Amino acid sequence: MNISTANELRALFLDFFKSKGHKEIPSASVIPENDPTVLFTTAGMHPLVPYLMGEKHPMGTRLTDVQKCIRTGDIDEVGDPSHLTFFEMLGNWSLGDYFKSEMIPWSWEFLTGKDWLGLDPDKLAFTVFEGDENAPRDEEAANLWRAQGVKDDHLFYLPKKHNWWGPAGITGPCGPDTEMFIITDRPPCGPDCSPACSCGRYLEIWNDVFMQYEKLADGSFVPLKQKNVDTGMGLERTFCVLMGAKTVYETEIFSRIIGKIEELSGKKYGESEEVTRSIRIISDHMRTATFIIGDDRGVTPSNVDQGYVLRRLIRRAVRHGMQIGAPQGFTCEIAKVIIDQYKDNYPELERNSAYILEQLKLEEDRFQRTLKKGMAEFEKVYGNMTRRKAAFEALKADKANAACIEAVMKVLPPSPENMPIHEQVQAGTIDDATIDRLIAGCATMDSRSAFKLYDTYGFPIELTCEMAAEKGIGVDTEGFEQRFKEHQEKSHAGAEQRFKGGLADNSEETAKLHTATHLLHAALRKVLGPEVAQKGSNITAERLRFDFSFGRKMTAEEKAEVERLVNESIKAAVPVVCEEMTVAEAKAQGAIGLFESKYGERVKVYTMGEFSKEICGGPHAGNTGDLKSFKIMKEEASSAGVRRIKAVIGK
Ligand code: ALA
Repeated sequence: MNISTANELRALFLDFFKSKGHKEIPSASVIPENDPTVLFTTAGMHPLVPYLMGEKHPMGTRLTDVQKCIRTGDIDEVGDPSHLTFFEMLGNWSLGDYFKSEMIPWSWEFLTGKDWLGLDPDKLAFTVFEGDENAPRDEEAANLWRAQGVKDDHLFYLPKKHNWWGPAGITGPCGPDTEMFIITDRPPCGPDCSPACSCGRYLEIWNDVFMQYEKLADGSFVPLKQKNVDTGMGLERTFCVLMGAKTVYETEIFSRIIGKIEELSGKKYGESEEVTRSIRIISDHMRTATFIIGDDRGVTPSNVDQGYVLRRLIRRAVRHGMQIGAPQGFTCEIAKVIIDQYKDNYPELERNSAYILEQLKLEEDRFQRTLKKGMAEFEKVYGNMTRRKAAFEALKADKANAACIEAVMKVLPPSPENMPIHEQVQAGTIDDATIDRLIAGCATMDSRSAFKLYDTYGFPIELTCEMAAEKGIGVDTEGFEQRFKEHQEKSHAGAEQRFKGGLADNSEETAKLHTATHLLHAALRKVLGPEVAQKGSNITAERLRFDFSFGRKMTAEEKAEVERLVNESIKAAVPVVCEEMTVAEAKAQGAIGLFESKYGERVKVYTMGEFSKEICGGPHAGNTGDLKSFKIMKEEASSAGVRRIKAVIGK
C-alpha cells in the first residue's frame, strides 16, 4: 500500500486522473445552488448535473475533484461505527468523453497498479448491473473486468437496488454502475454471501456510474444526449477500509478531533459504549457544523431548512458534550482543531474562522442556558411516567390492595375520561385489558411535555426522541406536530395583532428612547471625555441599553452629572432637527458619526439644539421635551474596556 494518510489517498487519486488528462476543479459549496430539491450537496456529481445533461463545462470534458458532501438522512445513526453526516468524495467525470472501456481498465490500474494503490487482485470483488425492464444486463462492464483478469467468483450481478445510481431527487441523470469491494478476512456468512449482504466480508471502496439515461417525472427512462462517467470514492470510508481500521473514527482522520474531545472531557474513547458513542457524535457533528457555517455560502442556526439541520447538529453535540463532562465553550475548541486540520484543502474554513467560532459560541451559549433545566424537566416527565407505570403494574397484581388503589388514583388525573376508570379502580372491577392499556400509555411521552421541551428549553424534537429512545420510551411526535402547527398559527396571528394594535405606541416609545441615547452619548462625552465612543445599543419598549468604550466603573458623581445634563436638555425642549448632507459636510459640522461605512455618501444628521449632533438613520422624537425625564438604572461592565448603561425615560 502506497498511502498512510487520508491526504495521501486524496493526492494519489487526483494525480492518477490528472495523468489521464483530467483537470482538477475545486469543491463546490455544500449548499446547492438553484436546487430546491435537496438541502445539501450529497455527492460529487450533484453540482455537475447541468454538465452531465449536456451543458459545456469551461474546464473541459475530463474532470476530477474532491467534493464536500453532507448526508443527514441517517443523522440518528451517527454514533455507530460507520455513519457520518459529512464526508469528502473523490470523483472523476467524463462529460460525454470516455465511457466503460476506458473507465474500467483505469479503475483496475488505480486499485492494483504498483504506482497507485497496489492492492492484491485476489482481495478485490466487483459488482455489475444484472438488468431489468429498463436497461439490459451490463455484460460489457463484466467482460471488461474479466479482461483485466477478474475471476467469475469475484464478479457479481446485482439488481437495481444495488447497481444503479441516480441523484437524490427523483428525476435526473442516472445509469447502471459497477462497484468495487475489498474482501476482508471475515469468512463468508453463508452460501449466498456476496457484496449484496452487509455481513462485513465485502467492503465497498469505489463506485463507477455509467450515466446514459435520464429519469423523467413519469418514471420512464430516456437516453441522455451524451454518455457520461461519474465515479465516487468516499474518502473517509475507503481510507478506513484500506487501513484495515475497525471504524472511520479509529483512523488518523479523527485522531486529532477525538484527542481534543478526550482532553476537554477527561474521558477516553473506548472506555465505555456510552462515552464512545458520545465522542463519535460530537466528532461527526462538529465537523459537519464547522463545514456548514464555514462554507462561503454558509448558513447560521435557525428553525428552518439548513439552519435547522445545523441547529440539531450543534445541540446534539452540546448535549453529548455535557454528558461526558466537556466544559462550556467546548464546541469552539473542537472547531479550531477541525479548521486547522482542513484549512489547506478548504481555505474558506480559515477565511471564515472568526465567523464559525462566533456562530458556534452563540448557539452553544443559547442552548447551554436552558440545557440543564431542560434535562431536569425531561427526567421529571420520565420519572412521572415510570411512577404511573409502576402504580398500574402493582394494581394489576393486586386489585383489592388499598395502597395500590390509592397510588393509581394519585397518578390518574380526575379528567372526564378518567372518571369511569376511577370508579372501576375503587370498586375493584377494573379488568386486565384496561390496565394493560394504561401501562402501554406510559411508554410514550405526551406531546405537551415534548412541546414544552422544544418551546421552553430549545430541545429539537429529534433530540427529545433520542433521549427518550435511550430510556426505552417513545414520543407522541404526531401530537407534537399538531401542537407545533397550532403554535405557529397562533404566533403568526399574534404578530399581526401587535402590528395592527400596538405599533404606533411602541414605535413612538422606541423613537423617544432612541433620542435619549443621543443625549446620553453626548453627556457621557462631556463628563468622561471625548474618547468615549458608542459600541452598541439596544432598545425595547421599556428601556434603552447603551454600550460605550470606557475603562472603569463610573463614580456616583459622574452618573449624577450625566443624568443632570440629559434632563437639562429634555427640559430645554428643543426640536429634533433632521438634515441630509454628505459625510464630509457632517464631519465639518462636528457631527459624531457611528458606523460610518454603512451609511453611503449622503447621510442623515440629527441635531438637538446645542446638545447633540449625530449621523443616524432615525427615527427620533420630534422634541427633546417628549422624553419628560431620564434616569440611569444600571451602569456595569459589558466586556473588557466596554461599559453598559441601562436607562429609562418618563412615561
Ligand atoms: N455518484 C456516485 C455516488 O455518489 C458515484 O456513489
